[in-house]
Amino acid sequence: MNILTFRSNEELNEAGAGIIAGLVQTNPKAVLGLATGGTPVGIYEELVKTHRKGMVSFKSVTTFNLDEYVGIPEDHPESYHNYMKHHLFAHVDLSPERTHIPNGNAPDLEQECAKYNQHLEDAKQIDLQLLGLGHNGHIGFNEPDHALVSGTHIVKLKDETREANARFFDSIDEVPTHALTMGVGTILKAKMILLVVRGADKAEIVHKALTGPITTECPASLLQTHPHVVVLLDSASGRLL
Ligand code: GLP
Repeated sequence: MNILTFRSNEELNEAGAGIIAGLVQTNPKAVLGLATGGTPVGIYEELVKTHRKGMVSFKSVTTFNLDEYVGIPEDHPESYHNYMKHHLFAHVDLSPERTHIPNGNAPDLEQECAKYNQHLEDAKQIDLQLLGLGHNGHIGFNEPDHALVSGTHIVKLKDETREANARFFDSIDEVPTHALTMGVGTILKAKMILLVVRGADKAEIVHKALTGPITTECPASLLQTHPHVVVLLDSASGRLL
């Protein structure tokens, strides 16, 4: 595991975007696993800048998002469909038919998960999976549990996760109770994982996930078993390492 700590958010964003753009420059047909949440926003901003400078094209890139809420419309300001459009898709030359996000409004959610797994299988392997980290150690929406699911599945969100994400909604009651998420098996199958964490409030979980026991009660700890993980931290989130 290669852990890099940055003094400023700008440096972290440049490093993250640099890794992703570098991969796409050498492999224009790369398959990228994308994340949402507050953490990757600055990295997407940098990627858009790099694209606007003409330094990287995404026209042959395929993307798979980690997750989506169940039951809010695609055009809801906090849906992950809308997030991706706003922060990346509308500003780069990705082709819409090569971007994938689970549909949290599908009439049959089980079938939607199976369909998503099939698309992932067709793509063979994610070259780079971008990940954020939940305060309880979740990755994607794989919540701590006594067992984890390998493929895309429906998940009931923990109260702490809904509380953490309530800042994006008008009130906690509006935060969906369920989501669709890529499973840890798919995440761990990626060739490379880029875990990004910021903020003092994540220092303890960073320490636990990266140096603690490998346990499904802290899904991010499973990343310790992966052969190629790069971790980008700001100094606050890395202070206990
Ligand atoms: C969210 C997302 C995760 C994200 C995490 C941390 O609920 N499902 O993919 O990595 O929680 O979010 P943030 O970056 O806003 O702290």
